[in-house]
Amino acid sequence: MDRIRIVGGRPLVGRIPISGAKNAALPLMIASLLTDRKLTLENLPRLADVGALTRILGNHGVDYSIDGKRKGEGEIAGQTVHLEARAIVDTTAPYELVSRMRASFWVIAPLIARMGEARVSLPGGCAIGTRPVDLLLMALERLGAQIDIEAGYVVARAPRGLKGAEIDFPKVTVGGTHVALMAATLAQGTTVIHNAAREPEVGDLAACLTKMGARISGAGTATIEVEGVARLGGASHAVLPDRIETGTYAMAVAMTGGDVLLEGARADLLQAALDAVSAAGATVVSEAGGVRVTRNGGPIRPVDVTTEPFPGFPTDLQAQFMALMTRAAGVSRIRETIFENRFMHVQELARLGAHIRLDGDTALVEGVPVLKGAPVMATDLRASVSLVIAALAAEGETIVNRVYHLDRGFEHLEKKLGACNADVERLSNPG
Ligand code: UD1
Repeated sequence: MDRIRIVGGRPLVGRIPISGAKNAALPLMIASLLTDRKLTLENLPRLADVGALTRILGNHGVDYSIDGKRKGEGEIAGQTVHLEARAIVDTTAPYELVSRMRASFWVIAPLIARMGEARVSLPGGCAIGTRPVDLLLMALERLGAQIDIEAGYVVARAPRGLKGAEIDFPKVTVGGTHVALMAATLAQGTTVIHNAAREPEVGDLAACLTKMGARISGAGTATIEVEGVARLGGASHAVLPDRIETGTYAMAVAMTGGDVLLEGARADLLQAALDAVSAAGATVVSEAGGVRVTRNGGPIRPVDVTTEPFPGFPTDLQAQFMALMTRAAGVSRIRETIFENRFMHVQELARLGAHIRLDGDTALVEGVPVLKGAPVMATDLRASVSLVIAALAAEGETIVNRVYHLDRGFEHLEKKLGACNADVERLSNPG
């Protein structure tokens, strides 16, 4: 299993190209199941989760091809892929494939919408609290699907097709909104999704579905209306930049000091997080080529944040911001309202010398002047990158174990940081 070795203490200086968003890429790839025509996705990140989803889609009958490298393209440039589901050959998504990544459960929506049946294993993914699928299934039931749970599988049936309906989510769910949106595109009649997630990735999916011929209005607001169509066609769509990767590197620069241009980043996708980074003492400026983050001298200031659905502070940046706050000149409060049990990084940060006390859904972080390198363990995707941020500012050497979590969501992390003066290397361990 690979590990990452970091020797902390160097400011980050340079440019970091921001990849296509993992959380947009996954639903966009899944949307290819809705049509027998070719869906071309540009700027797709090279990530373990993208590879895993490719295998799942292949099992349903999706042909997949990747364009070769183009002249002048660096190794970090996003890929262009073509997905074509001429025929769905299998409506079952098996446990062996789905259990490793929660988002793969979302294939249930296009499968039932196009084929009238789907059999999908209950999901796995990051172990952050209980992450049920009741709201996703409620949405499909509202659209007329019959849902049964059989031996760990969700079996959805709608032999005469889905029917447009009112779907009212009692709580904001990104996955629920993706599922409702995809299923409604091929339902008969009009669907209205109330309390829809407003995350930019929902807007990106809606934009792509619209190019494919779907009739959607209101994506990006809390009420989305979908008028079903009989079939969808092909399209070409570029994945939007990853706001979580953007925020992660912005927090890393705020942590180490320095000056980095986050190339291709869009501040409007994560304003709440960038406001918190600014409040902590960094300067954040939008430029033509992206977002520039600098911090030269001056202390890291304590800032309280509460995670919320978009446009609030994202839960996927909570661990990274906590890492930054471990070095703040004072006490900060970080409240997690989206997921239970999303504080697994706390005990690992403590191994580096952080002072953090948990009180229910809130972490009280008392900044310390120095962190010290140590061996630590990556526990989930976002938690592991928070350890990288802490290690970049810690004295001495940190070894981050179990970095396969990082590979699920961060493309070329060590190369991107290494190109900005960080002392970081991947140690490959056979077996
Ligand atoms: C997506 C993101 C994930 C992010 C999360 C919240 C992807 C691939 N993943 O996950 O990175 O952290 O949004 O921004 O895009 N819930 C239920 N019942 C359900 C579904 C969800 O109770 O049927 C709850 C969850 O337990 C959680 C909350 O709703 O407390 C939000 O979850 P949701 O927005 O659905 O997260 P995901 O779509 O799984």
